Amino acid sequence: MAYYSEDLIEEVISQNDIVEVISEYVQLKKSGRNYMGLCPFHREKTPSFCVSMDKQIYKCFGCSEGGNVISFIMKLENLDFWDSVELLAQRAHIDLSRFEVRSFSNNTKLQKKEDLKETLFKLNKEVGIYYHNNLIEILNSTGYNEVKEYVKKRKFDLNTIKRFGIGYANGKVPLYNYLLEKGFSKSEMIASGIIMENSKGKIYDRFFSRLMFPIFDIRDRIIAFGGRVLDNSLPKYVNSPENEIYFKGKNLYAMNLAKKEKLDNIIIVEGYMDAIALQKSGFKNAVASLGTALTENQARLIKKYTDNVIIGYDQDGAGQDATMRGLDILAARKLNVKVLILDKSDVKDPDEYINKYGPERLKNCLDNSISLVEFKVKKLEKSIDINNIDSKIKFLTGVADIMAKIENDIERDLYIDKIARKYDIGTGPIIKEVEKRLKKASNDEIVIDMQSINRKMQLVTNIRKRQEQYIIALILCKDKKIQEEIFDKIKPEDIHDENVRNIYNFLIDLKNNFDINKIDILSKVRDEEMVKELTEIMYIDLSMSDRNKLFHDVIKNKNKEKLFLRRDEILKRISENITSDEKEILNFELNQIVVELSKLK
Ligand code: UTP
Ligand code: MN
Repeated sequence: MAYYSEDLIEEVISQNDIVEVISEYVQLKKSGRNYMGLCPFHREKTPSFCVSMDKQIYKCFGCSEGGNVISFIMKLENLDFWDSVELLAQRAHIDLSRFEVRSFSNNTKLQKKEDLKETLFKLNKEVGIYYHNNLIEILNSTGYNEVKEYVKKRKFDLNTIKRFGIGYANGKVPLYNYLLEKGFSKSEMIASGIIMENSKGKIYDRFFSRLMFPIFDIRDRIIAFGGRVLDNSLPKYVNSPENEIYFKGKNLYAMNLAKKEKLDNIIIVEGYMDAIALQKSGFKNAVASLGTALTENQARLIKKYTDNVIIGYDQDGAGQDATMRGLDILAARKLNVKVLILDKSDVKDPDEYINKYGPERLKNCLDNSISLVEFKVKKLEKSIDINNIDSKIKFLTGVADIMAKIENDIERDLYIDKIARKYDIGTGPIIKEVEKRLKKASNDEIVIDMQSINRKMQLVTNIRKRQEQYIIALILCKDKKIQEEIFDKIKPEDIHDENVRNIYNFLIDLKNNFDINKIDILSKVRDEEMVKELTEIMYIDLSMSDRNKLFHDVIKNKNKEKLFLRRDEILKRISENITSDEKEILNFELNQIVVELSKLK
């Protein structure tokens, strides 16, 4: 990864207007001095995502995400800091060669984090090769072997094993020694999750006697592993834990392979085995969500490559429920979603289907995938016995709910027609019900209500924290006199909230090296929590308040707080078994505190 000089950051921020950049992803509406829209980081119906043109920052008052244009790209595109800077530089046609490439000599914490990431990628790669060679060796050996039998049973050919980097963890040679020889430290191995240490200090492998599936990111780097047992014992799979390079919901298994193909659509399945079976049979557009519900991040990842998705989850109840949830997340991203229905009920998932009925027949099912609306109606039908009158009403109401959510009028009419015919009900009653709902929906149209947003914001931040945020907000007002007094009177340890304290410490460091009134402070912060916190503070508007009064109030409150704390300590101590001398001294101090507190009232 390239690290550029810090000058590039300022250039990138000034050349990429945040409103323009975010508008490429989110529909924004102007509201006073801000722009509002639906937050891309969590699901919501009324906008709480606010972009400030003046401050060039964004903040969601629903989920508390926030930052500048670089943090937005990092989060949304799932990129590292410098990769995001590079992307924005390209967007603004900034000539990168003008900027010196260097490492973070002045930010060792970040340097360490980036270094650890690089190391984890390398370590995973070593381990991936190790497991894979293990398996190849076993397959080349003669005589009976349970691993060989299992591979045969699952119909994995050598090509597939190579393509997916499948391996075997034999657990015979301790990986610890192997990795030590390769130059990795114990703490790096533990950070990777591949090596574990118990409370007694015993070191052992997370994976043993398991068929190993490396999980690649879209840049073909191994970010984690999943290992399957060869029999029916539990747990069926063991997976790497999340760490610096692995975040479960951000990735899709086999996407690195699928993206290399020309994609008309993407098939999302549940398991490793399903994605492999499909790809092996020529459906190279299959990826797996690995048993977890689909996330916004995964929806965005797909959207980069195609607008069309087929969901092929397991036929059991759990799979169906997961499908439902996944459908809505994908549809909200304006993806065209279809659902694969297997025309045989004696198989559980696409993998079993292919093995039993062959890829041709599966192709047929894929071609006949049903739309989201049809799937929902089908599911509704299953849950209701439409032969009795009461249930029929329930069904009709449910159908109307589904229809009312279809945005396109023509599409909605077509579906109503189709369903009315299929279930032998007149279109009249459905249309009536749907119209009722549409009318109500248009009355509920989104209104941007800054007041309610401000209320929300106050609710999430308690009063003490608010006071501490004012300290930072006051520093940001660029009033030199106030700044000096704050730095003089408030010690970092006076600040209780960890994030605010970190920012305060950061500002102290910064002011020793820069004129903090001339630099873009937010762009110097790299810690995600600190970025969020600072953004929140930047939204505090002090332009109308009496800053001197606020400043004195804050100092006064801090002093009070300290006195109260000391008073409680003394009271506690006095109630304990102490000498009369000590008691006397403490009582004296207590009196003084009471006097001081009364002065502060
Ligand atoms: P499945 O049980 O459907 O597994 O779980 P599968 O991939 O079809 O495997 P086979 O065919 O039974 O061998 C779907 C996914 O859920 C996750 C795995 O990612 C799996 O691929 N899972 C399942 C776990 O992480 N742990 C488990 O114990 C089970
Ligand atoms: Mn399966």
